[in-house]
Amino acid sequence: MTAPHPEPPQVRIALGDRSYDILIGDGLLSRPSTWAGLPAASSALIVSNTTVAPLYAARLREALAARYRSIFEVVLPDGEAHKDWQTLNLVFDALLSHGCDRKTVLFALGGGVVGDMAGFAAASYMRGVPFVQVPTTLLAQVDSSVGGKTAINHPLGKNMIGAFYQPERVVCDLDTLATLPARELSAGLAEVIKYGPIADLAFLDWIEASIDALMRRDRAALAHAVRRSCEIKAEVVGQDEREAGLRAILNFGHTFGHAIEAGLGYGEWLHGEAVGCGMVMGLQLSRRLGLVDEAFARRVTALIARAGLPVVGPALGADRYLELMRVDKKAEGGQIRFVVIEAPGRAAVRGAPDDLVRQVLADCTR
Ligand code: NAD
Ligand code: GLY
Repeated sequence: MTAPHPEPPQVRIALGDRSYDILIGDGLLSRPSTWAGLPAASSALIVSNTTVAPLYAARLREALAARYRSIFEVVLPDGEAHKDWQTLNLVFDALLSHGCDRKTVLFALGGGVVGDMAGFAAASYMRGVPFVQVPTTLLAQVDSSVGGKTAINHPLGKNMIGAFYQPERVVCDLDTLATLPARELSAGLAEVIKYGPIADLAFLDWIEASIDALMRRDRAALAHAVRRSCEIKAEVVGQDEREAGLRAILNFGHTFGHAIEAGLGYGEWLHGEAVGCGMVMGLQLSRRLGLVDEAFARRVTALIARAGLPVVGPALGADRYLELMRVDKKAEGGQIRFVVIEAPGRAAVRGAPDDLVRQVLADCTR
């Protein structure tokens, strides 16, 4: 367990001897105290990509120089299409060619793709080395860097090869969001919005009132969105680290969304865009199951649209959607299981008849 970091604001993930802090704030990357208390080691490996490394790797390297004698760097190709074995191997190549040992600390500097891959590399190199998440997209700050899910994609299914492996710390430097393309900011907002209907109606109200401020990257609004999202995720992960049950609610919109991503080819739609549209489908499924009314479904759909996200899915055909959704990790014995909104602010996982799903797809795709 990494000791609690002395500086607020932070959110703590309480997982016994795997507990850790999420630091959220401005200028964290270059502040030496950000890195205090991490495991001692002689070397560190920064894992980043061709977009993020030129922006932030030097800053991180400089801040880490006082802690590690050797700091290596591996720069991966950018994009979801590279979240695969071949690219993951570049991390192992770097670790082995630099003679990295069991104490070497990996720093995942980038969005969710880098974080998921660096985390999986950390989980498996020498059967596990420490790693730190340094998320630089909104999506990674509010979701993917927190909770220890690491993975790569397989051509037959998203995030199918991976491990649960918790980081030592998560460092959300809000400054990094300044360079994020607008489309990526919207993708991150999808995961922020997700927390409202599944867990916190007051947060949903706040997002509705703050969506314009979030879209123009108002710092205080972003700080609150990241913090509250991390608090909700911490609460869920603290109760169900390995997704025996409750944690699956964090996948609201993801069953439909993963089918969109895989069906179009990874990278065509952003993950957050697919999740945003998947939530619209999940809301319609919940409505058709008689769990929420049309007004609530419309309310959340309108917010998703205001966040600049697509609310109509690609016309892959219902058969293809169903085929892709059967590969989802929540599926049991070939039966697709969906996260539905049981009542506004509360989610559950359940199956649904194929004909109902077909109706939803007919309503929500074009
Ligand atoms: P991403 O990692 O592809 O990053 C999006 C784009 O923004 C990339 O081109 C990246 O290089 C660029 N970028 C990153 N930071 C930047 C910055 N500060 N300035 C400018 N450009 C920047 O995508 P993402 O949306 O961060 O993450 C999506 C991935 O996360 C998916 O693979 C998804 O499966 C995964 N995910 C994992 C979890 C989890 O619990 N592990 C949860 C949600 C999503
Ligand atoms: N993003 C879903 C989870 O972490 O469980």
